[in-house]
Amino acid sequence: MGAESSFSGKRVLVTGGLGFLGSTLAHRLVRLGAEVILVDSLIPEYGGNLFNIEEIKDKVRVNISDVRDEHSMKYLIQGQDFLFNLAGQTSHMDSMQDPYTDLEINCRAQLSILESCRKYNPSVKVVFASTRQIYGKPDYLPVDEKHLLRPVDVNGINKMAGEWYHILYNNVYNIRSCALRLTNAYGPRMRVKDARQTFLGIWVRLLAEGKPFEVWGGEQLRDFTYVEDVVDALLLAAASDDGNGRAFNLGGEQAVRLKDLAVLLVEAGGGGEFRIRSFPEDRKRIDVGDYYADDRLIRKVLGWEPRVPLREGLAKTAAYYRAHLKHYL
Ligand SMILES: NC(=O)c1ccc[n+]([C@@H]2O[C@H](COP(=O)([O-])OP(=O)(O)OC[C@H]3O[C@@H](n4cnc5c(N)ncnc54)[C@H](O)[C@@H]3O)[C@@H](O)[C@H]2O)c1
Repeated sequence: MGAESSFSGKRVLVTGGLGFLGSTLAHRLVRLGAEVILVDSLIPEYGGNLFNIEEIKDKVRVNISDVRDEHSMKYLIQGQDFLFNLAGQTSHMDSMQDPYTDLEINCRAQLSILESCRKYNPSVKVVFASTRQIYGKPDYLPVDEKHLLRPVDVNGINKMAGEWYHILYNNVYNIRSCALRLTNAYGPRMRVKDARQTFLGIWVRLLAEGKPFEVWGGEQLRDFTYVEDVVDALLLAAASDDGNGRAFNLGGEQAVRLKDLAVLLVEAGGGGEFRIRSFPEDRKRIDVGDYYADDRLIRKVLGWEPRVPLREGLAKTAAYYRAHLKHYL
């Protein structure tokens, strides 16, 4: 990947750096010779986990603080070349039960982080982790970036605002920012304790424990991006100025029905069982139904393409949790 030489000797701040995507990005950045600071609040319900950085713990600096704390962020942002802004409340259900926390983290804190950039480090390059959730129920498939934004839950609304603050600060104040609208990311280091981060988490946990997992519905079409492919996209977005002020969809190798994904996971993961059941009512109300991304724009503008096929990614994920499950419960 062409972007890799851009990070050697560079100062990089990763918010949400002990989480699934942030910690995997940190491994890559360390390999590329960056000076990395990880900021994370380690709120227990979210995906942060110190085991995620076990192998690189002596090569990164960790700052346990909350992105809602403006004073910490003002201090941390200074002198950084890159900011990967990945801290977030990711649960759709939690955003409905506790909308104000989601608002504080995914919306207000994003604005204050950008204000810190504007006042204390206007030359930093920012990459923001946005989400496909902001499209809501698709009007057409695959969903491209021109699709109407019509979130179906509080999390989607706040992530949408967070994304647009980044675009606005790029356009008005020249704080170079790019947003990636991620679809279902999966792989080693994801939260598997429960389904808060992704339903695949609980599937993988139960599989590793030798218990059957549940597929709700099963007909839904979704796309999946392996975590190392997400990291490629984050690095490409950071290294190039061609994406500044823009938001890009990230997709996967193929769209797949959840029941077929379950079969693939069992096959790739070395055996297991699942049951199909109907969708619970409270989830159904905020489910987006079928979704898969048209990701031609990021392929064209930033030269990204997914490298890890679904079967291979699922096999690696299952193997990781068979080896390390105890650190994730
Ligand atoms: N994983 C996906 O499939 C996916 C899909 C779409 C968007 N995203 C976005 O990508 C980002 C990273 O997601 P992830 O999958 O790595 O989830 P994650 O929960 O593993 O990582 C998020 C991290 O942010 C930290 N965090 C949360 N609130 C914080 C706060 N107030 N201050 C400091 N740290 C805080 C958490 O402790 C956690 O470590 C999120 O913003 C998420 O919305 C992820």
